[in-house]
Amino acid sequence: MAPSDTAAAERAEALRREIEYHNHRYYVLDDPEISDAEYDRLLGELEAIEAEHPGLVTPWSPTQRVGAGPLSEFAESSHDEPMLSLANAFAESEVTEFDRRLRTALGVESVVYAGEPKLDGLSVNLRYEDGRLVAAGTRGDGQVGEDITANVRTIRSIPLMLQTPRPPQRVEVRGEVVIRRRDFERLNAARLKRDEKPFANPRNAAAGSLRQLDPRVTAQRPLTLFVFGIGASSDSLAADHLGVLEELADWGFRVNERVERIVGAEGLLDYHDRLIAARDGLDYEIDGAVYKVNDRQAWARLGATARAPRWALAHKLPAREATTVVEAIIPSVGRTGVITPVAALQDVEVGGVTVSRATLHNLDEVHRKDVREGDTVMVRRAGDVIPEVVSVVTGRRPAGAAPWAMPAQCPVCGSEVTRLDDEAAHRCMGGLFCPAQRMGALIHFVSRRAMDIDGLGEKLIAQLVETERVKTVVDLYRLTRADLLGLERMGEKSATNLLAAIEASKATTLARFLYALGINQVGEVTARTLATHFGALPALLEADEAALEEVPDVGPVVAQSITRFFRQPHNREVIDGLLDAGLHWDDPGREGAGRQGEAAAAPALDGLTFVLTGALSGYTRDEARAAIESRGGRVTGSVSSRTDYLVAGDDPGSKRDRAESLGVTILDEAGFRALLAKATA
Ligand code: IVH
Repeated sequence: MAPSDTAAAERAEALRREIEYHNHRYYVLDDPEISDAEYDRLLGELEAIEAEHPGLVTPWSPTQRVGAGPLSEFAESSHDEPMLSLANAFAESEVTEFDRRLRTALGVESVVYAGEPKLDGLSVNLRYEDGRLVAAGTRGDGQVGEDITANVRTIRSIPLMLQTPRPPQRVEVRGEVVIRRRDFERLNAARLKRDEKPFANPRNAAAGSLRQLDPRVTAQRPLTLFVFGIGASSDSLAADHLGVLEELADWGFRVNERVERIVGAEGLLDYHDRLIAARDGLDYEIDGAVYKVNDRQAWARLGATARAPRWALAHKLPAREATTVVEAIIPSVGRTGVITPVAALQDVEVGGVTVSRATLHNLDEVHRKDVREGDTVMVRRAGDVIPEVVSVVTGRRPAGAAPWAMPAQCPVCGSEVTRLDDEAAHRCMGGLFCPAQRMGALIHFVSRRAMDIDGLGEKLIAQLVETERVKTVVDLYRLTRADLLGLERMGEKSATNLLAAIEASKATTLARFLYALGINQVGEVTARTLATHFGALPALLEADEAALEEVPDVGPVVAQSITRFFRQPHNREVIDGLLDAGLHWDDPGREGAGRQGEAAAAPALDGLTFVLTGALSGYTRDEARAAIESRGGRVTGSVSSRTDYLVAGDDPGSKRDRAESLGVTILDEAGFRALLAKATA
């Protein structure tokens, strides 16, 4: 080997160790020490060395996690030691009976156990030879499963090489592959955005991801392995189970943080109670507690039935799914005007709690799941507290059950119900009047950047609303000293100050006033642009969608939202009421503003082609499109060699990969903002 090759080999080896170390910090310990960029730099350096010296590449290099192409089918993978199942217990008496049996069989007064959460995923068997991952299989029939080695290699919490200088010559490591809840939510959000069907639950997502014939698909899925034991081993490991788990953690695996040493049946029941209490806050789904005799020597003595070992027990948690009947689907109007279809259910016990309502999220969800009044449905309580309808038991649909429709009028205030073009939600357009939106509207109206009424906090607003002293924002300007003094904890001085603040807020600006109205899609910036463009309120009130779309950065969705808001008679009454109450501002002067507006629209992005992908936090799709188009740019749907910029938000998907491979400039949100700012100047 030439000296330079030796140097390259040494550097590659050092990089591999370093990368695996950081992998472990990030994917197993959830405690990274370096930034993603730094990590990418290390990986990039290793890739470069391996590209130059292909002889140095080994299957266990971190660059080789996704190496293989798609399979046509899975090969078989047999286990050295069978993968057994667990006996189940539901009642406490079954647990005390299990403990009694073991005490008798082992001739001891009390048994020491390992308590573990029973993770709800898919079990895998990993075979390591001389510390290297050589094979991975699903459980299958317990003796033979499917060979999913290529897929398992893509899971970053699984070490390709055990982190120990003296690994066993051959050992089977076993655990449960899951998708953690936050990863699951992100995964499903990204799928919805790409118009793909979301997964029903993390378990299905994990199972589907692991059984992909193309490992490149698996690599895109956020799978995590929690190890819970070993199978066959050529070398003897710790004498007790908890000791084995410690060894596994030392080798670089993730062991669940709720594994505990427990003594006796009472300890087991207490552990079970604590798991139930902790369940909602866990980042992964569990469906039980697993109790294992800690002393592994005792395992051989106790033996197994055909299905399950006698030294372990799965103690189930109360199911979090149950079936019940939808008595009605009720459109529920939230504080911001969003209308959520809610299923009113026949009372049912789910996971130890009585459930009588479940969310259906939005109309698309109602249609996707095809939930109808009278249907029998499966409901689930997941980590959060709002139960949801999972699916319909279609075989039990009553004759004549009709598809559900969103009402055209708000069930609370009768205003128009609208769905803006790029939103999943339906909204009540009567924001200034609708009783359901009162609190939200008032809090926003008085906020610092809106009417800036000092001393009117949320608690006080709640009191004013509850005592019906205030129904709409106009009522704020009708409040008397006597009204205020009738409230809890309101002294003379506070009342005087508050009345003065309310009075002072009357002198405002058109931009603040527009912002304060709380029109959906109209933030501070848009409010200012509208004020400058139209100069006076009547012109804006009369503007149709076409006129609004002439305003820089106002796209069709924003235009729709504004016109629908202003055409609600109730909103107009409130606006008139505010003007009658004496709210006023100086006209910003239409002439100058108009010219300035046109300057902003100077076609500085003339001839440039953009593609938008992923979610931007500061712009809706339409706003981003409008911002580009108003500056002379063009937005297209797919990335090609003629694309000048890809604007990539969160979860950008495949467009980003394509842009990268074509060498198209990729802008993140900050970059996009900067480009727009320059183009405006
Ligand atoms: S021990 C012989 N421990 O539950 C012991 N299993 O119902 C076999 N599971 O196939 C497994 N969490 O997929 C064990 N902490 C845990 C577990 C666990 C989840 C799954 C595993 C197994 C199934 C048995």
